[in-house]
Amino acid sequence: MNTAVILAAGKGTRMNMGINKLYLNIKGRPLLARTLDVFFACSSIHEIVLVIGEDEEELCREKIICNMEHNKPLKLVIGGKERQDSVYNGIKSADKGSELILIHDGARPFVTQAMIEESIKEAKLHKAVAVGMPVKDTIKQVDGNGFILNTPDRSGLWIAQTPQTFTLDTIVQAYELSYREKAAATDDAMLVERMGLRVRMIKGSYDNIKITTPEDMALAEEILESGRVGNV
Ligand code: CTP
Ligand code: MG
Repeated sequence: MNTAVILAAGKGTRMNMGINKLYLNIKGRPLLARTLDVFFACSSIHEIVLVIGEDEEELCREKIICNMEHNKPLKLVIGGKERQDSVYNGIKSADKGSELILIHDGARPFVTQAMIEESIKEAKLHKAVAVGMPVKDTIKQVDGNGFILNTPDRSGLWIAQTPQTFTLDTIVQAYELSYREKAAATDDAMLVERMGLRVRMIKGSYDNIKITTPEDMALAEEILESGRVGNV
């Protein structure tokens, strides 16, 4: 069985709307409900662990959970201070019989079933899989004074997205080590990389954005209207 850990315990500070961005509507349906719809619809996912903010259980039940099609177990777990803490709480609550854990940002509603299926297929072979896309722009490394230090070769650079998928053992080990060694990470693959394991990168899509700032809400409506993603 495979468990999806969906992260929804952030504050949405950069969205600057006074509430957690995941409870904002995109074309009449809350962002978080749109993300969950994709995982509920995916037959390769057997359990969903939804990681929510400490004070948001009531909000989540009323606004999201009441209006979902429940066809598989859903666990609500309280998140932590940093994204990493929320992930750890989520993976600790996954069914111990889970083969694979898919970690996904609740703020990415344009994940597709095809991405989830491909991640699962590759994770069965490689144990650790991240979804991403090749960068389109040239990336510069800049020093603290605003001067360019160097320009990495663009051909090998990808942006990291989610879902990121791991065998249960791999991700538990990576997180336990990161806490012991106080290692911070901006994504989950990084913690597996630092154990010396190879992480497979597969293509997500340029539509699989993380909704972060107010401009992203308009972009999200455009993506929905384009029909490029299945979930309207
Ligand atoms: N997240 C979480 N627990 C945290 C921080 C983040 O579960 N302590 C989740 C967010 O809810 C989001 C995902 O991780 O789905 C990616 O984080 P981000 O886009 O940074 O969301 P926020 O932290 O909510 O936004 P901001 O950084 O602007 O406050
Ligand atoms: Mg954040």
